[in-house]
Amino acid sequence: MFPAAIDSRPARYVEQLGNVFARFGAHSQDSGNVSYGVDADGRRFFVKTAGDPADTAPYLDFGGRESLLRNAARLAEGVRHPLLPTFHGLVESPGGPLLVYDWRDGDHLGTPRHVRDDPDTAFQRFRALAVEEILVALDALFDLHGQLDVAGWVQGDFYDGSLLYDFDRHRLTVIDLDSYRPGPYRNDMGRMFGSSRFMAPEEFSLGAPIDDRTTAYVMARTALVLLADGTLHRDAYRGPDALYAVVQEAVTTRFPSYIAFHRTWLAARG
Ligand SMILES: Nc1ncnc2c1ncn2[C@@H]1O[C@H](COP(=O)(O)OP(=O)(O)O)[C@@H](O)[C@H]1O
Ligand SMILES: [Mg+2]
Repeated sequence: MFPAAIDSRPARYVEQLGNVFARFGAHSQDSGNVSYGVDADGRRFFVKTAGDPADTAPYLDFGGRESLLRNAARLAEGVRHPLLPTFHGLVESPGGPLLVYDWRDGDHLGTPRHVRDDPDTAFQRFRALAVEEILVALDALFDLHGQLDVAGWVQGDFYDGSLLYDFDRHRLTVIDLDSYRPGPYRNDMGRMFGSSRFMAPEEFSLGAPIDDRTTAYVMARTALVLLADGTLHRDAYRGPDALYAVVQEAVTTRFPSYIAFHRTWLAARG
């Protein structure tokens, strides 16, 4: 349904495609990317572009943004999973690539720091769900990362802002895996992209190996943020002892591989 290449600029193409009902750009994103929600004859799509080539305010210039999108397209081509919005391909245009995904309903769990304690935010509403509902979401998230691990992808910049949750349908969606990279590799940035609440120590250390153990650490941090208060305090952790032990090991002595972390989690889930 989508061509491999178009002659028009992205903004014009999405207008022709259908009704543009959502826009994400400089007002909402600091990435420099510009994305659209488009309704085409009742089918809704999320279309992501590298934005304005003249926009040099973001950390990455247009060329850098474009290569991250091409990377994201490779990931989406290689890994299909119920948590990922269906990928409809990359469309080349004179204004750079467009990535077309299904639109997914859901509230964005990413929350600016100053409202992070507000019970009305999607982040706090998610954290207030029944423990089992959160565990089911974590199971699915860890399963996705198992599949990504098998395909050789290591997490990068994963945080609560990578999650949409549909509270009515109890459905989790994972978005924005643009900074995931084929691993293992060495930290070439010093402080890598990411939210420090989720990041592994090696993501702060130039030259350190980044691999599937990093993914395991970040997934365990995710459990601590969503199921506890982001700390290892046992009282704050709402899950059973067996799962607490897995998460504790994952962020202290660490697991030797993502598979080891995931297997231990599944065994503790019973
Ligand atoms: N498949 C999707 N369906 C619906 N909304 C989405 C989808 N993917 C992303 N979004 C929304 O668009 C916003 C920007 O997308 P994101 O991939 O995070 O772009 P950026 O690279 O600019 O951070 C997200 O915060 C989320 O609210
Ligand atoms: Mg984002």
